[in-house]
Amino acid sequence: MEKGPRKRILVTGGAGFIGSHAAVALHEAGYAPVIIDDLRNSRKSAVKGIESLLSVPVEWHRVDCGDAEAMKPVFKQPVHGAIHFAADKAVGESVAHPEKYFDNNVGGTARFVAQLRNHGVQHLVFSSSCTVYGEAEELPVSEDAPILPAASPYGYTKQACEDLLRITHAAAEGQLGISILRYFNPIGAHPSAHLGELPLGPPPNLVPYLLQAVAGNSGPLIVFGDNYPTPDGTCIRDYLHVCDLAEAHVAALRWLEQHQGALDVFNLGTGRGTSVKEVITAFHLATGLDVPHKIGDRRPGDVTAIYADAAKADEVLGWRTTRSLEDCLRDAWRWQQRLQDTPS
Ligand code: WQD
Repeated sequence: MEKGPRKRILVTGGAGFIGSHAAVALHEAGYAPVIIDDLRNSRKSAVKGIESLLSVPVEWHRVDCGDAEAMKPVFKQPVHGAIHFAADKAVGESVAHPEKYFDNNVGGTARFVAQLRNHGVQHLVFSSSCTVYGEAEELPVSEDAPILPAASPYGYTKQACEDLLRITHAAAEGQLGISILRYFNPIGAHPSAHLGELPLGPPPNLVPYLLQAVAGNSGPLIVFGDNYPTPDGTCIRDYLHVCDLAEAHVAALRWLEQHQGALDVFNLGTGRGTSVKEVITAFHLATGLDVPHKIGDRRPGDVTAIYADAAKADEVLGWRTTRSLEDCLRDAWRWQQRLQDTPS
């Protein structure tokens, strides 16, 4: 990183789970993360967590990134790039309120990207998801796999955002470079326990729910079906550490700096599939604790298995995961214990 003032990188949704970890990785890589978050799905405590971890103040604007008027002060100083995390992501909620998801996820992205173009920002990293693949026919799934019907309105919004970005990239004629990152299943927490996934509302995902069950804050973990056509009957996913994922955003930004005006898409995963039962076993290996659980019915919308062909991010971005599943679960449990010790 060359010397001189740190380059400002807007991080929308920067008080969220992945956004806050990305803000830390950006600072550690020599950039100045600028948190843009209206706290509709996050808490100010995450910004404090970033500052206590870095021991420096972090620039933060409590605004909706899609509100161009409210965003004007953000652009008063030069903006070098942006990472767009801000979105609604609860799959179940998207089924009940698809219009909210399209307005915020797709409309919000369009309104934010228009601002970037108006202010001559040249680098955009976009938070997409493996959910765009639907029920992938071939595993591991690579970036050139067909985009099949999504399993939820949430998935459709990510597909629509990717189309929006490709069309906008062409219209910008090289003035806006975009890297689209398709996350598999991010889990874990920063090993310092200053950052982690805040359980806002009922935890919709496996690991947050597993942690609540182990902590005794909820009933046993319900395993959503053990009669799938997989070795142990439970669904298979590609779980990666949130810190690995955060570091991939720095690699994607560096790639854009070296390839002005480029557009490309990358899977971010370990390349390995792990079943629900294997996660439960790994948690015991990592912590010595058992996960109270029982088998329940399948969850509508679940795909049987999906995991990444992770070769392209390695070859093009020079990024790969380095932390193990046990590292993820150990760090997640440490964060859960910190949450238990510090009542909100
Ligand atoms: C994982 C596995 C469940 C909870 C979603 C989004 C995806 C991404 C990650 C944003 C599945 C099983 C879960 C539980 C269980 N989000 N499970 N009991 O559905 O793979 O992906 O979150 O980008 O886009 O779609 O993640 O953690 O909900 O489920 O058995 O209480 O755990 O059936 O097999 P999913 P998940």
